Amino acid sequence: MTEPQTNTLRGEGISLSFGGIKVLKDLDVEFRAGEITGLIGPNGAGKTSLFNCLTGAYTPQKGNIGYAGNSLNGLPPSMRAAKGIVRSFQHVALCPDLTVRENVMIGVARNHHSGWLNAFLPLPRGQREWAAMAQDANRALADLGLAEMGDLMPDALPPGMQRLVEIARAIVGNPSVLLLDEPAAGLNNSETSDLMAVLRELASNDLVLVVVEHDMDLVMSICDRIYVLNFGELVADGTPKEVRENPNVVRIYLGSDDD
Ligand SMILES: Nc1ncnc2c1ncn2[C@@H]1O[C@H](COP(=O)(O)OP(=O)(O)OP(=O)(O)O)[C@@H](O)[C@H]1O
Ligand SMILES: [Mg+2]
Repeated sequence: MTEPQTNTLRGEGISLSFGGIKVLKDLDVEFRAGEITGLIGPNGAGKTSLFNCLTGAYTPQKGNIGYAGNSLNGLPPSMRAAKGIVRSFQHVALCPDLTVRENVMIGVARNHHSGWLNAFLPLPRGQREWAAMAQDANRALADLGLAEMGDLMPDALPPGMQRLVEIARAIVGNPSVLLLDEPAAGLNNSETSDLMAVLRELASNDLVLVVVEHDMDLVMSICDRIYVLNFGELVADGTPKEVRENPNVVRIYLGSDDD
C-alpha cells in the first residue's frame, strides 16, 4: 500500500451502463496530486465516460468518487467545478459569439468576487473585475503560445489553436483537478510541444492532472503513471515503462487476438 495522499481523486468500484451495455466495469482508480496520470485505451474503452463520472455529468450505477478525502457522490457538475474540478472536452466547445479572450475568461470567473455577470455591468467594481479577468486570460493564452489571438473570434482560428484556447480556459482558474480529454488531437508538432511544456509546468504539488490521449509519444513522455482501459475494464496500470512492456497492453494495441 502506498501512503494515503491528501489531495487524491479516487474512484472505487465504478460501474456504469447504458441500457444494459456495460461501459465501465467495477473500476478502481486513484489520481494523485503532483503527478501526471495518463488514461489510455482504444476507441470506446470508456475514457470519456470515466471523466463524465468524475465531473458528475454521468452518475454511475455503482461505486464511490471522492476528492481529498471527501465524497463527491451526488454532487452536481457545478458544485464539483466550484471545488476546482475542471475538464476540457474531446470535441472543442467554445462559445462562437465570444472572443477568444472572453472564452478563456469564463474559466476565471469562479475565482472572482462579483463573478462573470457583474463583470459585464458598467459599475467600477465590475470593471475592475473585468480587467483582472482579462489579464489572467491573457496570461493563460500567452502560456499556450496564443498571446496575439485574444481579440479574434474562435472560428478564425485553426482547429488545433481552438483546442489550445479550451485548455487555456481550463487552466486559467487554477484548478485543483484538471481532466484533459485528448488535448493534443488536431495539434501540429510545435503546438504539441508547447502543450507538453505547459502540462509539465502545471504538474505542481497540489494539482491532480489526468490526460486522456491517443498520442502515445506525448503520454509516454509526460506521464508519471498510466491506466489502460479496454471495454470498460482496467487492463494495466503502472509507469510508462511498465505499461509499454505489459503483454495485455501490447496485445490490445497490436490488435492480436491469440493468447
Ligand atoms: N450517453 C451515452 N449513451 C449511450 N452510450 C454511451 C453514452 N456515453 C458513452 N456511451 C458508450 O460508452 C462506450 C464508451 O464510450 P467513451 O466515449 O467513454 O469511450 P472513449 O474511451 O472515450 O472512446 P474514444 O477514444 O473514441 O473517445 C461506447 O460504447 C459509447 O457508445
Ligand atoms: Mg473519448
